[in-house]
Amino acid sequence: MNACIRAVVRTAIFNNIEVMGIMHGYEGMINDEFIPLNQKSVANIIQRGGTILKTARSARFRTIEGMQAAKENMQKHGIEGVVVIGGDGSFTGAVEFSKIYPVPIVGCPGTIDNDLYGTDFTIGYDTAINTVIDAVDKIRDTAESHSRVFIVEVMGRDAGLIALRSGIGAGAEAILIPESKNDMEKLIHRLERGRQDKSSKIIMVAEGDESGGAYNVSKIVKEKFPGYDVRVSILGHMQRGGSPTCMERVNASRMGYAAVEGLLQGKKNVMIGIVNKEISYTPFEKAIKHIAEPNPDLIKMMEILS
Ligand code: F6P
Repeated sequence: MNACIRAVVRTAIFNNIEVMGIMHGYEGMINDEFIPLNQKSVANIIQRGGTILKTARSARFRTIEGMQAAKENMQKHGIEGVVVIGGDGSFTGAVEFSKIYPVPIVGCPGTIDNDLYGTDFTIGYDTAINTVIDAVDKIRDTAESHSRVFIVEVMGRDAGLIALRSGIGAGAEAILIPESKNDMEKLIHRLERGRQDKSSKIIMVAEGDESGGAYNVSKIVKEKFPGYDVRVSILGHMQRGGSPTCMERVNASRMGYAAVEGLLQGKKNVMIGIVNKEISYTPFEKAIKHIAEPNPDLIKMMEILS
């Protein structure tokens, strides 16, 4: 997100536009946490994870009173255009807010889950999957040396894209994701059919999978296959931090730059995306309602390769 903020600030200044950062997202809009940003405020942040503007979930922004307070602060500071970095919740808030205060808002997709319609990449995803494969490569050393089965749980409350892509990248023996059904039955079948020798196995599970997560999967595998030495590893929030990959920094910079360019061209209530390497604009309503489904070919390939 910092790479995106940096690009927004510097593109705006290049176009002689003053920039204010709103701390803590919509919560800061309500609490009047507006800070002026200049070239220097965004120096030396492109390599840092997280966001220098901090973030918060705002229940108050869902109320008329909250939005009214935000509107007064926006007017006070003379804000004429907004760039929001976020996902479904942030874009839904933008749509509602623009009904009571029609300031142009452009969104940049920010979620490690990569589950937004209208973009091939969301900010955070590439770094997250690279963090996961790095961790799984390390786990594999223990798995291989001790001939163990590791159930590795990754983030993805509603979407299995992190599990699918990092599972393929780490050479996982099975991947369980919310978008594909009866994964547990398929896993058991696979283990029954597979080599019963003591080689290592990595089973990736998205936290939102219908199996109920890594501990449940581990319990079932242990019951069915008492011969296996099974361990669980839940990667957790390490997936949401760290220095962004080069691809992430470039994509986030492109999106921040395109957000300001878009506002200057009169665009509003659209999400910036990168589709087939090109910048695209998707109306918030469409980005929110549609779910980015995993490529079925990736699922098929994973089953053949694992
Ligand atoms: O942004 C969605 C997500 O990455 C989910 O995959 C995960 O369940 C969640 O964030 C974790 O959020 P929190 O830090 O609020 O628990």
